[in-house]
Amino acid sequence: MVSIATIQFTPTIFDVQNNIKRIKDILTSTTADVIVFPELATSGYFFHSREEVETVALEFLSKEMQEFQQIAKQKNAVIVLGFAESFEHKLYNSAAVFSPNTIESRVYRKTHLFYKERYCFDEGDTGFFTIQHPAKDVSIGTMICYDWRFPESARVLTLQGADLIACPSNLVTHIWTKVMPTRAIENKVYLAVANRCGTEERNGEEVSFNGQSHIYSYNGEPLVSANATDDEVLLCTIEPENTRDKSFNSENDILKDRRPEFYIV
Ligand code: ACM
Repeated sequence: MVSIATIQFTPTIFDVQNNIKRIKDILTSTTADVIVFPELATSGYFFHSREEVETVALEFLSKEMQEFQQIAKQKNAVIVLGFAESFEHKLYNSAAVFSPNTIESRVYRKTHLFYKERYCFDEGDTGFFTIQHPAKDVSIGTMICYDWRFPESARVLTLQGADLIACPSNLVTHIWTKVMPTRAIENKVYLAVANRCGTEERNGEEVSFNGQSHIYSYNGEPLVSANATDDEVLLCTIEPENTRDKSFNSENDILKDRRPEFYIV
């Protein structure tokens, strides 16, 4: 059994120091084996230029971010945290994946950029990967928000052995509530969607985020879900070994039945 906390958290755009302080406060009062925060939780979302992102971006190895590494160690938790990343003159919409075992910690850089993100960030270059919790039998993959539109994201993580997909998000549409459970069903994986709430208005244009963070079971059923307007901590437990037998009747198995030779265009 593995415990999951999905944090619905609304940052203030540009206020990195205060967002980080609030994230640390939440971590102080949260106990779970895996803790998932939203996309760009340290910085806010609706940037209009690279110059703006440069003012909020942090290196993964910066003092500010490595303090979360210490917290992951102290809490013996994997912490998945969306942040604006600067690395060698590039800017990425990233998720830091902190393992209690520091050497396993990595960054996932968002593969599919959404809307005006393309003016602000570089396309992610890490590809998808999974990490194991060092003390728990669970394999965790990460994708970020708009990656959900591409079934390949969750499928690749499943083929890599993910039992749980962590999905830091800043979701602005509503159709995801239909599709995220599908991603869980078609791959037979748990899926933790950490979304944010609130509105960001920039230069006369507004984006609204719709909360409703979820943890879905591998059959697409919501295990826990959050409200649409306020920050909230969702807690539940999962049984990762239940995701590993991909059969759903005596004859069919969703991975073994694949015909990749016919998926080439
Ligand atoms: C999104 O990718 N933040 C919609």
